[in-house]
Amino acid sequence: MNRSVAEVTGVAGVKAQQVAYHDWESGHYDHKWSISFDQRCIDYAYGRFRKAVPDGRRFDRALEVGCGTGFFLLNLAQAGVVGAVHCTDISKGMVDTCVANGARLGIDVHGRVADVESLPHDDDSFDLVVGHAVVHHLPDLPAAFAQLRRVLEPGGRLVIAGEPTRAGDRIAAQVKRAARIGVKLAAAAAGPKRILADPTAGLHTDERHAAALEAEVDLHIFDPADLEALAISAGFTDVSTVTEELTANWFGWATRTVEAMVRPGVLPDGYPWFAYRTWQRLFAFDEMVAQRFVPKGVFYNCILTATVPE
Ligand SMILES: C[S@@+](CC[C@H](N)C(=O)[O-])C[C@H]1O[C@@H](n2cnc3c(N)ncnc32)[C@H](O)[C@@H]1O
Repeated sequence: MNRSVAEVTGVAGVKAQQVAYHDWESGHYDHKWSISFDQRCIDYAYGRFRKAVPDGRRFDRALEVGCGTGFFLLNLAQAGVVGAVHCTDISKGMVDTCVANGARLGIDVHGRVADVESLPHDDDSFDLVVGHAVVHHLPDLPAAFAQLRRVLEPGGRLVIAGEPTRAGDRIAAQVKRAARIGVKLAAAAAGPKRILADPTAGLHTDERHAAALEAEVDLHIFDPADLEALAISAGFTDVSTVTEELTANWFGWATRTVEAMVRPGVLPDGYPWFAYRTWQRLFAFDEMVAQRFVPKGVFYNCILTATVPE
């Protein structure tokens, strides 16, 4: 694991940054990450989950930590995988948005502002705990895994998805860099004002400060074995990881980088559909071909699953 920002700014400072950034992001998070609660995202969430829990098991009481706007657990609820839905996040803005998303979908969400490292729930409260794209934000990983273990009942299942691998993240950084250069070259040729968006236009000072924290809130990248070791140290059994997304991830970061840099209207109307269809095809290629030849640690997304001993 890399040296965390917590060592530089102190854990309280890191947590305050997480809250400030994600409270601000909660207002436009679903749009930014193309999150929806339709079949597209239900299939994605369910697919990730079933890679970790292929036996078709259903769960009665599920907790999501770092729920954001509810992308993972609300879509799993829609897929019929879970019963009671409890969603927590350190950001009140995220919890409020998650509860509102649940209400729109007719899902009764028990939302609570909570830090993963000190969960307010009783011991043995859940038979499933999930997290998606959250563990790499946590300063104290052993404390977090101890909490995940504590709130799960014996036989309960942990599923952590969407964590960036060390090698995958390094490759993604180069892809983003290349995409930025490409957009800047296009802007230089066509005129920067015609092409480039100003991402801080219209933001108040506080919002600008919050937006600037984007570079601070990602604390870790992992080898899959790092995540497994954390779960084993916390007392979980049946610990395993799978990884996925290679070329699909490169393409995804390239398209996201372009989308974030250009003014509205620069990209053609068919761009989102083209991007999604191409991503799907590359995802299928990664599953059917790349998985056979490419080492596990090079894929971008890691999914961890583990069980509390009976
Ligand atoms: C990248 S977002 C992922 C959100 C959501 N799980 C998803 O996949 O869309 C990370 C989330 O973790 C939350 N978070 C960061 N640190 C946390 C902590 N210590 N305890 C609980 N949530 C935390 C953030 O507020 C944010 O909502």
